[in-house]
Amino acid sequence: MPARDADAPAASLSAPPLVRRATMDDLPVINRIYNYEVEHGVATWDLAPWSLEQRAQWFAEHDDSTPVLVAELAGALAGFGYLAPHSPRAGYRFTREDAGYVNERFQRRGAGRALLAALIEEARSLGMHTMLAGIESENAASVALHRSFGFVEVGRQRQTGHKFDRWLDRIDMQLLLDQRTT
Ligand SMILES: CC(C)(COP(=O)(O)OP(=O)(O)OC[C@H]1O[C@@H](n2cnc3c(N)ncnc32)[C@H](O)[C@@H]1OP(=O)(O)O)[C@@H](O)C(=O)NCCC(=O)NCCS
Repeated sequence: MPARDADAPAASLSAPPLVRRATMDDLPVINRIYNYEVEHGVATWDLAPWSLEQRAQWFAEHDDSTPVLVAELAGALAGFGYLAPHSPRAGYRFTREDAGYVNERFQRRGAGRALLAALIEEARSLGMHTMLAGIESENAASVALHRSFGFVEVGRQRQTGHKFDRWLDRIDMQLLLDQRTT
């Protein structure tokens, strides 16, 4: 049964988030969470909301090497996160980018932390060497979340984004997952 998208009683939200693989049934809620950020925020630099068809196509392109996870709080789908290749070029095969979005009603309840912890575990079990996150420079929540897992800032792209009539900087944060030298 798909997770609900409805309001959950505040009291039951104190339970820890449950993280699991996403299914097709989750796509409408995933898409609503993402499109909210498209229309109201600058965490994504998409300007047009995605259709459900685009979301289904995106999901079909994610396999076990680029998993999509969801976090449930009190049975409601609170957020999602995923791994993506950094580049299609084969030399980047040991690198993954992560991204995550939590419904604003459910933020600050541990869903983002649970998703990122699970994505790091997925990347480790896939034998990845490093993870990258591209974060809008004023996104204090995402910067703090990534920093708490050991990600460090490795670069800043100045004014590569433009949304809501202003230029946006992107911070690149990186986590090395192991000490392999070759
Ligand atoms: C960033 C985001 C995913 C965090 O998810 P969340 O479920 O709210 O975060 P959590 O409750 O798990 O908090 C984990 C940590 O993130 C940091 N954090 C979360 N919200 C924060 C805020 N508003 N200000 C500062 N730090 C914050 C803190 O370090 C927090 O740890 P703490 O609670 O022990 O202090 C969420 O705010 C979100 O979806 N934002 C909109 C979309 C977005 O920015 N996505 C990231 C794109 S790179």
